[in-house]
Amino acid sequence: MKLSEALDFVGLTRGRPAGRFANLHTVADVHRAARRALPRGISDYVDGGADGEVSITANERAFDEFRWLPDALVPADAVDTTTTLAGETWAMPVGLAPTGYTRMIHPAGEIAVAEAAAEASAPYVLSTVATTTIEDVTAATRAPWSQLYAMRDRVVTDDLIRRALDAGSPVLEIAVDTAVAGNRVRDRRNGLVIPPRMTPSTIFGIAIKPRYWMGMLTNDSIDFEQVKASDLDGRLPGGSIADITSGFDAALDWDEIARIRGIWPRTLLLKGPLGPANAMRALDLGVDGVHLSNHGGRQLDRAVAPIDLVAPVRAAIGLDALVIVDSGVRTGGDVAIAIAQGADAAFLGRPYLWGLAAGGREGVERVLEIVLAELARTMALVGAPTIAALRERGPQLIAQRRTLGGI
Ligand SMILES: Cc1cc2nc3c(=O)[nH]c(=O)nc-3n(C[C@H](O)[C@H](O)[C@H](O)COP(=O)(O)O)c2cc1C
Repeated sequence: MKLSEALDFVGLTRGRPAGRFANLHTVADVHRAARRALPRGISDYVDGGADGEVSITANERAFDEFRWLPDALVPADAVDTTTTLAGETWAMPVGLAPTGYTRMIHPAGEIAVAEAAAEASAPYVLSTVATTTIEDVTAATRAPWSQLYAMRDRVVTDDLIRRALDAGSPVLEIAVDTAVAGNRVRDRRNGLVIPPRMTPSTIFGIAIKPRYWMGMLTNDSIDFEQVKASDLDGRLPGGSIADITSGFDAALDWDEIARIRGIWPRTLLLKGPLGPANAMRALDLGVDGVHLSNHGGRQLDRAVAPIDLVAPVRAAIGLDALVIVDSGVRTGGDVAIAIAQGADAAFLGRPYLWGLAAGGREGVERVLEIVLAELARTMALVGAPTIAALRERGPQLIAQRRTLGGI
């Protein structure tokens, strides 16, 4: 997309964007709107992380440590943000990371997110603990990418994989950072249980956020539809989030990755905070690439900021393997940093959930518009008008970056 089109898209060349998103110019603005829309316990579920939440802050700060040295006088009248990922062309190197229990954020849930992603031409990864099945998402839009929590019961794991194949999902990402559930202190303090129960604090929440609750109470009840559709003969340990996560395979190891490689013929990625040695081991097993992530600080607190892993992992696994990064991506400028460091794409987690909370499908579209316009503007200003140029010349365009000892 040309820079002028991207800016026009987001309304900047015509003055203020129209309608109910008139005041949402950045992802931070969208975050504030989401906080106004959601009851406290739900916005804490989205925003919160593990233990002391050191990683949440560190993930965002890590992007702020980079400084550009632009290339002067590179014609930027035709900025092109399009890129290829896993054999398909997309409007920008940005995707939507998997998030569980999305219909608790907004009743339109995963289908609204998938529709917004399809509209913007961005990949969307459906979570194992999604509240909508892959079949329903595919019927509404197109087959999403699939995230897999490997289950202790391999019958369930294999059925999830079979359903992803049958639905036409082009990419499977195995989460390797969830041997046990992270310690989400905010959820414990708020007494948040999933599925939510009527408690005095829920009733108080209804009083102060009636609109949110009307949406929840007048729509279908929420459940772990995606994994439950593979719960053949009642094999899962129960219905709450604690029950479901206790069914995750805490003994997941490299042999199971090799086994899954044998039954998944399409693009296979590992998702987690993987360093160069683990990434090389994955490639040796036939895995196609890595989705570098610390789960947005929701699993191992103090896990390395994934943006700092991009350059060393790319150097280790070569140019052909797929490298995606998430955790702390908040602007199109952050996406540009990720590409310049060697990533193929940067994915968003919380930002699109904030958009969903603030305005359903259109809220997610708004987030993608904002990020696209910021990316196109950054590319024009640094003098890298294509994604290929940004990737190739990235090391010269970044004058100052953090150095990470030991990686
Ligand atoms: C509310 C929420 C639920 C999530 N659920 C999942 C999940 O089910 N599976 C998964 O692999 N990652 C999950 N993640 C992690 C995201 O895929 C992604 O790694 C993370 O959100 C990126 O960081 P960011 O939120 O700072 O953008 C979740 C994140 C959030 C915020």
